[in-house]
Amino acid sequence: MKPAVVAEIEPLRAVVAEARRKGQTIGLVPTMGALHDGHRSLIEAARGRNDFVVVSIFVNPTQFGPNEDLQRYPRPLATDLELCRQAGVDLVFHPRPEVVYPPDYRSYVEVTGLQDVLCGASRPGHFRGVATVVLKLFHLVQPDRAYFGQKDAQQVRIVQQMVKDLNVPVEVCVCPTVRETDGLALSSRNAYLDAGERRLATVVYRTLIEARRSIEGGERSAAAIRERMRERIGAAPGAVVDYAAVVDAETLCEATEIEPGRPLLLALAVKFGGTRLIDNLLIP
Ligand code: PAJ
Repeated sequence: MKPAVVAEIEPLRAVVAEARRKGQTIGLVPTMGALHDGHRSLIEAARGRNDFVVVSIFVNPTQFGPNEDLQRYPRPLATDLELCRQAGVDLVFHPRPEVVYPPDYRSYVEVTGLQDVLCGASRPGHFRGVATVVLKLFHLVQPDRAYFGQKDAQQVRIVQQMVKDLNVPVEVCVCPTVRETDGLALSSRNAYLDAGERRLATVVYRTLIEARRSIEGGERSAAAIRERMRERIGAAPGAVVDYAAVVDAETLCEATEIEPGRPLLLALAVKFGGTRLIDNLLIP
């Protein structure tokens, strides 16, 4: 069956309220569209544990910097809706920007500290926009569970912290990163890569795997791992490291000594031409 599509807040609330009246549990998958198998895996996880699945498709302007790709971000609505139909989504929320941010809009959510490192350092204001829109979606849909991908590890930490700090009654569910067969993490931005960049881009995941292997092999210096990751990426022609990080998985603070039993996040942001890709591995 085709999912219902709503663009306004009133019908969104009405359809969700009707599901709730029937005693259905509600799962929310927030997205910016240009859906791929990574998004599909979140929808399937939501489908598996909830009676009613809502997908939001909204290219959120407040999380884009002034010189970023807001205008050219892909918006293939018809194919997105077809993927939603196949995946058994019940309701798609696809608002216009003015519905989410009316002209007199003034309120923003900040998750201090966590928002300023890694991607937040090169994309100032990005996570303020993410936290704000995610909290708004939580209030609009009031889901029992919301689904996010480990692909965006810092986004996950920020949403988890916001939910805890602001007592939001939602269970945050984190799903594994879906990859191409050569390891490249699926991303709506992979479409920007030309054929040469696409071939090169596999260096990101390979570098993470090597870093994990060296930790498993007994390397205890985070600085040495960072340095090796930088070298490895730097050796790929045309790849420019934005950051190569070894951080505490919870605080996102730089690790110094690698201590067994303390969860770590290996994270990379790499530019290929004008396209910035991110990936990470969690070391439990
Ligand atoms: P978007 O980039 O569309 O991603 C939507 C969700 O899909 C995020 O939770 C993201 O982590 C997940 N995702 C993306 N690629 C994935 C992959 N390869 N494997 C598994 N999950 C993947 O993230 C956003 O949108 C926005 O910031 C949003 C949360 C919607 C707020 O605007």
